[in-house]
Amino acid sequence: MDTKTIFVTGAASGMGRSTAQLFHREGWFVGAFDVNESGLQSLEEELGENCQTALLDVTDKSAFDQAMAAFSEVTGGRLDLMYNNAGIGVAGWFDETPFDKIMEVVNVNFIGVLNGIHTAIPLLKETPGSLCFTTSSSAATFGAPGLAVYAATKHAVKGLTEALSVELARFGVRAADVLPGLIDTPILRETPRYLNGELVQVDGRTIGEDAPNEGMFRMTPPEEVAKCVWEAYHSNKLHWYVPPEIVEIDNAKAASPEAVRDARITASGFKVIE
Ligand SMILES: NC(=O)c1ccc[n+]([C@@H]2O[C@H](COP(=O)([O-])OP(=O)(O)OC[C@H]3O[C@@H](n4cnc5c(N)ncnc54)[C@H](O)[C@@H]3O)[C@@H](O)[C@H]2O)c1
Repeated sequence: MDTKTIFVTGAASGMGRSTAQLFHREGWFVGAFDVNESGLQSLEEELGENCQTALLDVTDKSAFDQAMAAFSEVTGGRLDLMYNNAGIGVAGWFDETPFDKIMEVVNVNFIGVLNGIHTAIPLLKETPGSLCFTTSSSAATFGAPGLAVYAATKHAVKGLTEALSVELARFGVRAADVLPGLIDTPILRETPRYLNGELVQVDGRTIGEDAPNEGMFRMTPPEEVAKCVWEAYHSNKLHWYVPPEIVEIDNAKAASPEAVRDARITASGFKVIE
C-alpha cells in the first residue's frame, strides 16, 4: 500500500474515534477495532473508503492475530502506527471493589496492550519509521486513589513503553505513550463505581463530575489527544501529557513522592500518618 496506515483499538468512541477521524482526514488508511458494533458501524459510514472496521476484543490474543492478519492482507503488511488505546475503568476503594471487576480492568488495559504490541511487532519491523503508541493516563503519574487498579495498569503500560522504546530501537521502531488528564469521553460516565462491594448507580459522570474549569484537570476534548497522536508520529518524544501541565505531577513526584502522597491523603479528608 502506498499510503500510511494506522491500527486503532477502542476506535468506536472517544479518543480512539477522534484519532481514526484525524488520520483518515490526513489520507491515512485506518484500521478501526472495538467491541462496540454500532459505534464501529457509524464510524465506517462516516469515513467511507480507505478504512477497515472490525469487531475485536483486545483481551483475546487469537482474535487479535486474526484481526492483524486481515489488516495486513489489505495494507500489504504495512503498519506505520499501532495505537493500543482500548481501555476501561473501575472506581471505588480497591478493597471494596469485587475482584472480578479488578481483573476485567487488568485484562483490557494491560493484557490487551500486551496482545496488541506482540501482534503488531512483525509488521512494525517491516515498516520504516513506524511507531508503537499506547494510551496510558495521568493516573500513571502518581497512582490515583479511588482508581487504584486502573492506575496500576496505566503505570504498567508506561513502564512497558519505556522498556520497548529501547528494545524496539533494534528495528528502528519507536515506542511512545500519551498520559491524558480528564478527557470528555463516555468512559467518564460508563466507569462503574463500587462501595462496600456494591455497584453504586450514578446519574451523570462517575469520574470528573467536579472537574475544574481551568488547570491540568480541566475537561479536555478528545480531539486534543488525536492531535497529540499525530504529533507523536512526527516526533521522537516518549511521553505525551494532555494537557501538557499534567507533567507537573511527574515532576513533583520525582522531587518528593511523600509530599505528593501526603497532599492527596489530606485532600481525601484522611489523616497523614506520622
Ligand atoms: N477519558 C479520560 O479522561 C481518560 C483519561 C486518561 C486515559 N484514558 C484512556 O483513554 C483510552 C480511551 O478511552 P476514552 O476516554 O476514549 O473512552 P471511551 O469509552 O470513549 O473509549 C474506549 C473504547 O474502548 C473500547 N473497549 C473497551 N473494552 C474493549 C475491549 N475489550 N476490546 C476492544 N475495545 C474495547 C470501548 O468499546 C470504547 O469504544 C482508554 O485506555 C482510557 O483508559 C481516558
